[in-house]
Amino acid sequence: MNEWARKIREGDTRALARAATSVENRDPRALETLRDLAPFAGHARTIGITGPPGAGKSSLVDALAAALRQQGKTVAIIAVDPSSSLTGGAILGDRIRMQQHHADPGIFIRSMATRGNPGGIARSTAGLVRLMDAAGKDFVLIETVGVGQDEIAIASLAQVTIVVLVPGMGDDVQALKAGIMEIAGVFVINKSDLPGADLVERDLRAELPHAAIVHTVATEGKGIGELLAAVEQVHAQPRHAIDLPRIDHLGIAVPDLEAAVAFYQTLGLAASHRETIEAEQVRLAMLPAGDSRIELLEPTAPDSPIGKFLEKRGPGLHHVALRVPDLPAAVARLRASGARLLNEPREGAGGHLYVFVHPASAGGVLLELIQESET
Ligand code: CO
Repeated sequence: MNEWARKIREGDTRALARAATSVENRDPRALETLRDLAPFAGHARTIGITGPPGAGKSSLVDALAAALRQQGKTVAIIAVDPSSSLTGGAILGDRIRMQQHHADPGIFIRSMATRGNPGGIARSTAGLVRLMDAAGKDFVLIETVGVGQDEIAIASLAQVTIVVLVPGMGDDVQALKAGIMEIAGVFVINKSDLPGADLVERDLRAELPHAAIVHTVATEGKGIGELLAAVEQVHAQPRHAIDLPRIDHLGIAVPDLEAAVAFYQTLGLAASHRETIEAEQVRLAMLPAGDSRIELLEPTAPDSPIGKFLEKRGPGLHHVALRVPDLPAAVARLRASGARLLNEPREGAGGHLYVFVHPASAGGVLLELIQESET
């Protein structure tokens, strides 16, 4: 383990600050330190805080940090301004914040600006988050200044993202960029003692009926306990892992199954399953590859679906198969949107439900949807 890594694990704040700077500067020593510290990472709770300017994000972050410190948790605050080229502690609110938490070694604060490299800031932030996590911080708060694409990329580094809104922007809720609505785990209506807080909530509910919404007055510490509880609740439901379709397999049409299997074998993939499906006049081999599979398809007759595909398009990607959590619901949504389905959902050889979507609806590739099985 290198010197920095060792000192950081011993709780040396100065070493941590130097390592943070070297991560920002993409110093090779930073990579080495991150590598040495990797075994210690993975325990921090990471929370992104974003929203339009003037929503009171910094006050909210301060209130969250104070509440977490009261619980005895250690906190790192990473404030990121992708639109500014001001460096380090030059961000105004940050100086005040530094003074406020100055005496507390349980809070580590770092602010970052682009330094003329807007694309690199998300990567630097990711490195800083890993560093703070490995250093043993219980919570890493990532605050961004606005609602642009860079801010969204940075906020989505976090396990849970809080989008901060304020009264007086009721009609603007719909104008909020789509990306920010999608990454939001919890919405905060800050300064909710001002008139119009209910209007913001109503507009939010109209767009997102199931959203977690918390009212706060950050400067008075109001609603902060509820906010932390909501963050924990959202974090406990890994909704993306559950709700998102996964690639089950990629179907590749080949003229010679054995030659194709041999090729993939040189890459270390082996056929777990072989089958000839008479009804579809196809021989297939399934090759597990990580969480998904490659399905190699060879026609047993020239006028079969795969045979015709080979004749017309040549060997290549024939279909993409997605495993979805609720096939009937997916089919209903597809029908409502006017997508062209090639069959009614039917039962495959393995007892699973599946349906094909025409390439014209699916971006040019035949799409197979498979019901997520219970097991
Ligand atoms: Co398939």
